[in-house]
Amino acid sequence: QHRIIIAIDGFSSCGKSTFAKAIAARLGYIFIDTGAMYRAVTLHALEHGAIRSGIVDEEAVVKLLGETAITFRFNPERGASDIYVNGDLAEGKIRTIEVSNCVSRVSAIPEVRRKLVAMQQEMGRRRGVVMDGRDIGTVVFPDAELKIFMTADPAVRARRRYDELRAKGDDVSLEEIERNVRERDRADMSRAVSPLRQAPDAVVLDNSRMSVEEQMAWFMELFERRI
Ligand code: C5P
Repeated sequence: QHRIIIAIDGFSSCGKSTFAKAIAARLGYIFIDTGAMYRAVTLHALEHGAIRSGIVDEEAVVKLLGETAITFRFNPERGASDIYVNGDLAEGKIRTIEVSNCVSRVSAIPEVRRKLVAMQQEMGRRRGVVMDGRDIGTVVFPDAELKIFMTADPAVRARRRYDELRAKGDDVSLEEIERNVRERDRADMSRAVSPLRQAPDAVVLDNSRMSVEEQMAWFMELFERRI
């Protein structure tokens, strides 16, 4: 069977990565989490003073971008690739609330998007990838053979993200998470460059009341019917 590109876009904390990773494992495809790339650039900017007290210095971020090498290395324990910034493992540091609070402003910078989109297109050149993000089906791979747009009730999404962060030992409040989820949706949908949009040919998946197994069953049915 020929290998295709599966584009998964949607709102924040919908479980896009969990879903994409399960699909990749099932099909023997490569899973690419593009949100991790925007988070890695944001983490690097935070660590190098291009973001101070929540204020993003766009010029400084762009300047840093030239010296920011983002790479992936497969981690068999996670069954997914870990992200590295200039050779340093960044995986555990990119999902904090601090990074989440700044990432949408960093991802709205055109130069940041240009660089990361080019990397993503290169990574998917040979197809056989499941890529999740906000603009995969609209901008990165408008010709993807299968596009899924994920959504879920904002309260359900905040709760899932909250449980995940608490399980890791992060001291966050549900209110803070819910505010972040809603604010990122708003910012991602209203930015000028490649805003979050449902591609006209995307299939919608609302997983508010679905387990991962149910989502996979839904996906395999779609995959077999369409491909
Ligand atoms: O998917 P995740 O929640 O980790 O993404 C973090 C942020 O990165 C999003 O809120 C969005 O601002 C940005 N992003 C993007 N385009 C993508 C993936 C993520 O702008 N393809």
